[in-house]
Amino acid sequence: MTEFLLPFLGRMHPVLVHLPIGILIFGILLCFFPQKGKNPLLPSIRLAFLIGGIAALAAGGSGFLQYQWEGFAWEDVQLHLFGGVITAVGSFGLYSLVKNAEALTTKIRVLALVLGLILGITGHWGGNLTHGEGYFTEVLPADLQSLFGASAQPELGPQLTEETWENAQLYAEVIQPILNKNCKSCHNPRNRKGELDLSSLAALKKGGEDGLVLTAGDAAHSELFARLILPKEDEKHMPPTEKNQPSKEEITLIESWIKGGAKESGTLAEAEISKNQVERFILKNEIPFYPISALPPLAADSLAGLKEAGLFAEAVESGSGLLKVSCINLPSFQDSDWRILESVQSRIAYLDLTGTQVTDAVVEQLTALPNLTVLKLNSTGITGNSLKKLAQTKNLKLLYLNKTGINLSQIQALGSSKSLQKVFAFDTPASRELATSGKAIFPFILEAGSYSLPKLATDSIVY
Ligand code: HEC
Repeated sequence: MTEFLLPFLGRMHPVLVHLPIGILIFGILLCFFPQKGKNPLLPSIRLAFLIGGIAALAAGGSGFLQYQWEGFAWEDVQLHLFGGVITAVGSFGLYSLVKNAEALTTKIRVLALVLGLILGITGHWGGNLTHGEGYFTEVLPADLQSLFGASAQPELGPQLTEETWENAQLYAEVIQPILNKNCKSCHNPRNRKGELDLSSLAALKKGGEDGLVLTAGDAAHSELFARLILPKEDEKHMPPTEKNQPSKEEITLIESWIKGGAKESGTLAEAEISKNQVERFILKNEIPFYPISALPPLAADSLAGLKEAGLFAEAVESGSGLLKVSCINLPSFQDSDWRILESVQSRIAYLDLTGTQVTDAVVEQLTALPNLTVLKLNSTGITGNSLKKLAQTKNLKLLYLNKTGINLSQIQALGSSKSLQKVFAFDTPASRELATSGKAIFPFILEAGSYSLPKLATDSIVY
């Protein structure tokens, strides 16, 4: 009949803690209330520390019950608990100091301040336990968050590498990260939906309100897996339908882990997990296509000038300070119009001059673009004699020269470029030379079929 009492008292802890906080802060403030002559507040201060101490004991007792009954981990509560004990002891200590004092001494005032500090820290630790550590910081703007070293780390899931994936630990490096990514927001020590904590193997093995969720070797009878494959309409389906769902691979990996005995240690190779199953978690160290630039992204309105002139301009990737600029809707663009681009010169990474009036004279300007990566000069009057200068640009990877007057020896002159990956020269003298003279070897790929190039849809896209 009375077994509810202890857990109930435990749950009173968040209510009770406000008593010592209020009373002790009141006492501490009284210590600094300016008084002339004999301090009439002394008895009140004494009383505040006495009652504050008793309230701290009561709060501590209920806190201990809550720790016992609500399954908090000792590592999480220990600091908070020690803080509570010190607060109670400190209050009684101050009570007896004030009781034996004739007047408020500096020593009492300093100790009262120290007590206030301990009280504040203890309360903060307690708040972290109930609200989670990021409670205050997570509502701050990102740059302020990083100032507090608390930038919210998104759960990324498993992160394996090409070289070492086979030796990765199945539970620690794959299964737990999958649970962290998909389940931990609702199943952690602070927020235990269904009384279930999935943030560690020890907690997971304790199960939830309906008992164990894991039967090693038997996935079908493990709620941890079985709930994931329930039809979405089923109210027991996990995670709840409105939340991000784990991928097929993630579910299969959980299944394989349980079938293999739900072991804490053991590598992917030992568990006979194939590369296919984890392929999507293997990090590819891709070299970014565009140069890495320290230029901050441009505000949309600073592109307005370009757009007014009839150009298309946007960031090459969201968040990048580099620009994609296209003159495709401005066939009248000519060499002297270059001044429109001067203000963003250092940002241009992708430049499409297809179909414009530019001539060889523009190449000089192009070599001055430090981040130029993709250059389209299709259907322009570029003849090619000036092209070899483009070999000096450091980042140029793709060069489009379709339907220009370029010939093979002019393309050859680009051979000294260290960055160029592909040159497109369909429907040019070069492509016709190739058709008769056979293969030519370049340090880059030359795309120049011997046929004439059909007009591509993208050539006439109107942005
Ligand atoms: C948005 C919150 C949320 C997420 C995310 C979530 N769950 Fe749950 N889970 C709940 C709630 C609420 C319950 C209790 C109601 C119930 O049993 O359906 C629960 C209960 C469970 C139970 C039953 C516990 C018991 O003993 O009754 C299991 C097992 C479970 N979840 C597994 C998972 C797994 C595995 C994931 C991740 C793949 C997950 N959950 C993600 C909210 C969530």
